[in-house]
Amino acid sequence: MKVAIAREKAAGETRVAATPETVAKLVALGCKVAVEKGAGSLSRFVDAQYKQAGATIGSTMAATLKGADVVFCVGRPSASSLSGINKGALVIGSLNPSDDQSEFNALAKTGAALMSMEFMPRISRAQSMDVLSSQANLAGYQAVIDGAGEFDRALPMMMTAAGTVHPAKIFVMGAGVAGLQAIATARRLGAVVSATDVRPAAKEQVESLGAKFIAVENEEFKQAETAAGYAKQMSEEYQKLQAELTAKHIAKQDIVITTALIPGRKAPVLVTKKMVETMAPGSVVVDLAAERGGNCEATVPGKVANFKDVSIVGYTNMPGRIAASASQLYSRNLLTFLETLIDKESGKLNVDWDEELVKAILLTLNGKIVHESLIKAPAVKKPAAKKPVAKKPAAKAKSAKHTSTNKTSKPKSGEPKLGEKK
Ligand code: NAI
Repeated sequence: MKVAIAREKAAGETRVAATPETVAKLVALGCKVAVEKGAGSLSRFVDAQYKQAGATIGSTMAATLKGADVVFCVGRPSASSLSGINKGALVIGSLNPSDDQSEFNALAKTGAALMSMEFMPRISRAQSMDVLSSQANLAGYQAVIDGAGEFDRALPMMMTAAGTVHPAKIFVMGAGVAGLQAIATARRLGAVVSATDVRPAAKEQVESLGAKFIAVENEEFKQAETAAGYAKQMSEEYQKLQAELTAKHIAKQDIVITTALIPGRKAPVLVTKKMVETMAPGSVVVDLAAERGGNCEATVPGKVANFKDVSIVGYTNMPGRIAASASQLYSRNLLTFLETLIDKESGKLNVDWDEELVKAILLTLNGKIVHESLIKAPAVKKPAAKKPVAKKPAAKAKSAKHTSTNKTSKPKSGEPKLGEKK
């Protein structure tokens, strides 16, 4: 069985889907491993280390993929880069099928079995394969490091002969995996930490990390957690009350870290420009939701912006800023999943297409889209037109395509969303 590791081609992607450590483990499992030249260089893993671990180095992507049964990647590869791939080969990565659907359809047509790790069910036996958690954890840590880097004062209290430095105040908005790690990191660095979330269960978790919980704890808040454990969209009335409470709090903070997301939706705006204006000069906002539209109105995705003397950190690939650790955890997530597909005795790939984890993350098979969240409802049959409309069919097709690929379109109610628990 051959496993190929592609070099990531997307601008700004510094991670790699296998490290010398996971390559050595694949080789020990009986796999042949090919790594594309320079694949690990931005994560500080050099070709010589992969060779030492037992891999061969492919000079191009096509040479690396030739004859591969499995391809590991971080982001979605282009359809053209997979053109020579074996029909039925498994392509395993974070394939984000809701982005650029025409390109995704072209990728499906290569005949590869596309498997998207973000769809991994959040159940105990799959925790070690949960790429959302492993990457969010590091993103939460890095958010504090980047926030501290932009802040021109110290985080901990320091009592020196020259006087006392007061501890910085850090407010974390959204206490999921990234938020909880941000709280823990900020506490370790000596800041005074507070946090908020719309899920009632988060209160206990925030307090157990030694941070103060800030929220309007009315009846709606108590009912807010969905069965899946994720946040649900709150009413306008609740959002108004919560915004008033947090606005007063934000005015007194040195660093605000936002991590609030609702699966499948644009990130909610929690920090308005008006709120940023109330922060002292030199304060910092780190927006971990920048990639999904941002939690802060002043965020410029991909940049560190300055708004009224407040630094707004809007990096869109925060795990990629701590690439060596992110690649280490991501590649272990992939290896652990692949191990479940290998027959222990023969060492061959033996995929049970009906197995729970496989079914949850399998997007396409034999050129067809098979994941239930991607299969569109059958089109409603229109009554036959009296006169055939022959003019400009191409323009019509184009506009229909644009509508269906609109990234900001809301998911239909009841439709499973990215990352949603099954
Ligand atoms: P996420 O990345 O979807 O969202 C981040 C946080 O933002 C969430 O805590 C959410 O409640 C919060 N949020 C959303 N809108 C908000 C608003 N308007 N104001 C304030 N906060 C807001 O969340 P993540 O990190 O994926 O975790 C979601 C849930 O899944 C959590 O309950 C987490 O503990 C759970 N989880 C379970 C796992 C497992 O069972 N294996 C693994 C990882 C997470």
